[in-house]
Amino acid sequence: MRLATPSGFATEVFLLEKPDQTLLPEGAWTLVGDERLREAWTRAGMPEPEHALWVSVPEEEKRLRTVIPWLEHWARVPLHRDATVVALGGGVLTDLTGLAASLFLRGVAWQVWPTSLLAMADAALGGKTGADLAAGKNLVGAFHPPRRLVACTDFLTSLPERHLENGRWELIKTALIMGEMGWAMEMLQEGPVKFAWVERALAFKAGVVHRDPRESGERRLLNLGHTLGHALEAASGYQLLHGESVGLGLLGSCFLAEEQGLKSYPAGLLDLLARRLTHLAPLVAPWADCLPLLARDKKAVRAAHADGETAVTQIQCVLPRPGEPAVQRALPPQAWESAHARLLSTLHQEGVRA
Ligand SMILES: NC(=O)c1ccc[n+]([C@@H]2O[C@H](COP(=O)([O-])OP(=O)(O)OC[C@H]3O[C@@H](n4cnc5c(N)ncnc54)[C@H](O)[C@@H]3O)[C@@H](O)[C@H]2O)c1
Repeated sequence: MRLATPSGFATEVFLLEKPDQTLLPEGAWTLVGDERLREAWTRAGMPEPEHALWVSVPEEEKRLRTVIPWLEHWARVPLHRDATVVALGGGVLTDLTGLAASLFLRGVAWQVWPTSLLAMADAALGGKTGADLAAGKNLVGAFHPPRRLVACTDFLTSLPERHLENGRWELIKTALIMGEMGWAMEMLQEGPVKFAWVERALAFKAGVVHRDPRESGERRLLNLGHTLGHALEAASGYQLLHGESVGLGLLGSCFLAEEQGLKSYPAGLLDLLARRLTHLAPLVAPWADCLPLLARDKKAVRAAHADGETAVTQIQCVLPRPGEPAVQRALPPQAWESAHARLLSTLHQEGVRA
């Protein structure tokens, strides 16, 4: 089925069970695919273009150095500027392939065929492409929306359980941004992920991205849980997966929201969040490791001291509210520190109870 998106939206979105080759580009195209998916792709009768690249890219290699050989390869082929690049894989591969497509010949068209739940539910939509720098996640990139997104549930059958759970966090994030507590509670229960949740999350994200493609206002709400999440992810040396880090960031944001005097949460929501996260407690870095990473946030406010040194005074945050859309606030590092402390103690208490 084709998802209804706002009129003029840059990306056509298809949600299918099986891959359909009629949705591939009509003209010349090439592919960058996760080698784990190669067999499933060919078994489904999907064509392999002559100059396809089958790669394996872990999060630690989400770097500019990874895409340079791809660009050199396309230049040798040579890939024409009217050709389309198809990305087949999880969020790391699709972010990098989109970035490479934005750079090659100053921008060629691309399609995204996400194969992890996280990429289907979030990363593949919205036109943000990127790579990590030593200083932090996604610090280099471009807005370059794909022409088409095709998410096929059949690909999820080979996705490891930990990565299915990882993707669930971006769905829960969406429910909390919307203030849809019932939906959040449903997704926090045990039980399989429903594809209808992905459909709902993509429809919501398409609306937000269409209204604010360059993240100058409303789109920042999509970063709920990400400021603390990115810091925890990097501080764990990427032992925490992206979605897991966002999950921890969501619980931290709920604590920040409560401490800022916002409406309290339905009984049990914080408990469910904590219960799903408690096994990650050993990977949560101490506050001293998180602060420098939070301070590097693109939207942090700094003040100069008399000795010429600068210190962060405010860090932007998105706060969830039950029954209402999330809001943005700038909060001092002390507020974040106490949320981090409460996060750790809650996870440890929950671990003792379990
Ligand atoms: N661009 C955006 O708006 C946006 C939004 C959210 C996240 N992201 C990015 O997405 C990345 C995380 O994506 P991810 O969680 O998909 O991680 P990932 O790309 O590392 O994929 C997870 C693992 O699953 C494997 N895999 C993928 N699909 C599979 C399948 N169908 N069967 C078996 N194995 C499969 C991959 O090889 C990898 O080992 C992060 O780098 C994050 O920054 C981007």
